[in-house]
Amino acid sequence: MNTITQLDCRFRPKWHYAAERNWLNDPNGLVYSNGTYHLFYQHNPHGDVWGNMSWGHATSADLLNWEEQPVAIACDDEEAIFSGSAVVDVHNTSGFGAGGVPPLVAIYTSAYAPASPLAGRQAQSLAYSTDDGATWTKYDGNPVLDRASADFRDPKVFWYDGDAGSYWVMVAVEALDREVVLYKSADLKSWEYLSSFGPANATDGVWECPDLFELPVDGDAQNTRWVLVVNLSPGGIAGGSGGQYFIGTFDGVEFRSETTVTEGLQPDGSRMAEYGWLDWGRDYYAAVSFSNVPAGRRLMVGWMNNWQYGASTPSDGWRSAMSLVREVRLVSRGGRPALVQAAVDPFAAAGMELFALDRRRLPEGVTWLPAEASGEVLRIDAEFEPGAAGRTGLVLRAGGDFGAGASGGERTVLAYDSVAGELTLDRTASGNVGFHETFPSVERVAVPLEDGRLRLRIFLDRCSVEVFAQGGLATITDQVFPAGSSTAVGLLAEGDGGTLVNLSVTG
Ligand code: FRU
Repeated sequence: MNTITQLDCRFRPKWHYAAERNWLNDPNGLVYSNGTYHLFYQHNPHGDVWGNMSWGHATSADLLNWEEQPVAIACDDEEAIFSGSAVVDVHNTSGFGAGGVPPLVAIYTSAYAPASPLAGRQAQSLAYSTDDGATWTKYDGNPVLDRASADFRDPKVFWYDGDAGSYWVMVAVEALDREVVLYKSADLKSWEYLSSFGPANATDGVWECPDLFELPVDGDAQNTRWVLVVNLSPGGIAGGSGGQYFIGTFDGVEFRSETTVTEGLQPDGSRMAEYGWLDWGRDYYAAVSFSNVPAGRRLMVGWMNNWQYGASTPSDGWRSAMSLVREVRLVSRGGRPALVQAAVDPFAAAGMELFALDRRRLPEGVTWLPAEASGEVLRIDAEFEPGAAGRTGLVLRAGGDFGAGASGGERTVLAYDSVAGELTLDRTASGNVGFHETFPSVERVAVPLEDGRLRLRIFLDRCSVEVFAQGGLATITDQVFPAGSSTAVGLLAEGDGGTLVNLSVTG
């Protein structure tokens, strides 16, 4: 039961998309067309928990300010509309276009209900729009790809243009088998099997919402790699839902991973930290990328929640938000391509610097910043030279009875431990953590210092903390539910806590 309280309204994010009312989960059908970014999403139009799955819809010109649109593709008696993708069918290969205008085509999973002759199956279906995403028509030849499977879902489709030819490629999952399956098509309607990938690396949960895209390494178009994204739940690095990725090659038929650590289905927890993770926090799931984005940018969005407790987070009629949109790139690190991520920054255009500090040795304990540096919705940029032994970092969203130490009152603590070489985000005392037993948690990621320095960019919104460390080499995304008055920011130094190089707080 959800009680609607005034108190909970305060969590509606300023810079993260949430439906005006009711539930959302995975981002779907992310596509750019004619100056507009479309964000479709798993949506229950009739309640604030999962159910009646349909594609909700929001649009934006800048990936920051979203306008909610009517439900795009609604469930009916025979099928729920599960996750999938959308493409601009530039050459009208599908024939859905009219009057020379390319159609938008959505490729979604039909989760067949008992009233359907295909009850119990999941198969891939099409819907199309000839008015730039405003209205959608289901294709009357659905489903277009049926493996007679109960767990075949989440198709991500892209146009492949390479040595093997030019055609549509679909990546989808056999979720229980921990397998990504690839198909090709000339017209989006008839599909031919190409290959499978998996199980590999993290397999301690079902595989969902895959993606596959090519990126230049260090911006060099002659040296590219393919990134295969595989979300899984549970079995993520921080517990519950999480997103892993593989870096490798794709020849138009088969993806070959260069980053597979172990093969097979044996869960080996000790190797988890060696796998590629899109995020090391608890709340970045079902992340997939936009198609058709200009200038070859690869932009991703994740559902900022976790299936472990997702249905229990505080709600006042809406529940769950999307992450900030992230641009992902590949850069060389230690002779290998590494994934780096940067958020599309809400503060870049509209933000004002509220407070800044330059180089100084940090005194032991917590140094609270002045009131003008506090807030619920902030960007904090900080650079540290951590000491040889100790903890250095920031105390965020602090309020209540907090003192000079690292405990007391409400607080979310982001700290770098020099001995462990590890960055941790501790939300165990972040505010309302009691709504689910799995919610209080400490996230951790090994982060090598660069020139002895730790660089952090942190986005705070009313119910979230997103951390980008070392230029986005590692990210941690967590929901938090503090009191509206818990807005203080502090600098933390314990033991040989080290030096602050610079700090800037923008609001
Ligand atoms: C992932 C997921 C998908 C599925 C959708 C249903 O969060 O389980 O695999 O298509 O959610 O809402």
